[in-house]
Amino acid sequence: TVYPNQQIASVQVAKRIADLIKARQSSGGKAVLGLATGVTPIRVYAELVRMHKEEGLSFKNVITFNLDEYYPMQPTAAQSYVTFMNENLFDHIDIDKNNVHIPDGTLGTTEEVAAFCLNYEKQITDLGGLDMQILGIGRTGHIGFNEPGSAPNSGTRLVTLDDLTRSDAARDFGGKENVPTKAITMGVGTIFKAREIILMAWNQKKASIIKKAVEGEISGEVPATFLQLSEHVEFILDEGAASEL
Ligand code: GLP
Repeated sequence: TVYPNQQIASVQVAKRIADLIKARQSSGGKAVLGLATGVTPIRVYAELVRMHKEEGLSFKNVITFNLDEYYPMQPTAAQSYVTFMNENLFDHIDIDKNNVHIPDGTLGTTEEVAAFCLNYEKQITDLGGLDMQILGIGRTGHIGFNEPGSAPNSGTRLVTLDDLTRSDAARDFGGKENVPTKAITMGVGTIFKAREIILMAWNQKKASIIKKAVEGEISGEVPATFLQLSEHVEFILDEGAASEL
């Protein structure tokens, strides 16, 4: 779906999330959301905060799992995805912080990380899976931090970041040399199990990767192309991001 601009598109995505939350509320259930970081979803979160403050949208029945986190990363660091989510969403809504899950960038050993990743998958499965996963897309074609070479059935795991991804993150870290080389990310397989997947992209600078993701050959070289295999995916774009389709 192509919208005239990212503001209109973001409001539509926020509305979809709010409708899901309300539907679950009215049946006494929980909404299990997969959330993303980056510039792309910021206006969606701003709209959800507005709906909470002005329309009384409650997040008490919402459980969230974030896609990824840099590794190593302290949650209190300015660049952590914990800080990002708190600043853009969680600190402004009535969600129970016990219901918030973000991969842990503080674990010391590869064994601890592996155990954490298995448990992350199990927590999602035990809740019956993700109702909705929202995604941005990196210029490498990554979803979450599933970089080129990721397998379609990959699970939550420690990965090495692509050079281009680290260049794109350099500004946040005051130089590429400060960007961690690794991250913990949900896998392509984890994302795939969500009942509904919404990938958002804005601006001309995402146009060529969106063309590859939507129209290109399905390949681990562009992990977002795996989404072509799912029946439950919608790409929500502004005119810039859709301009090469
Ligand atoms: C980041 C995140 C991704 C995000 C992507 C695009 O590295 N790990 O989840 O979708 O890169 O970021 P942005 O939305 O800032 O363009």
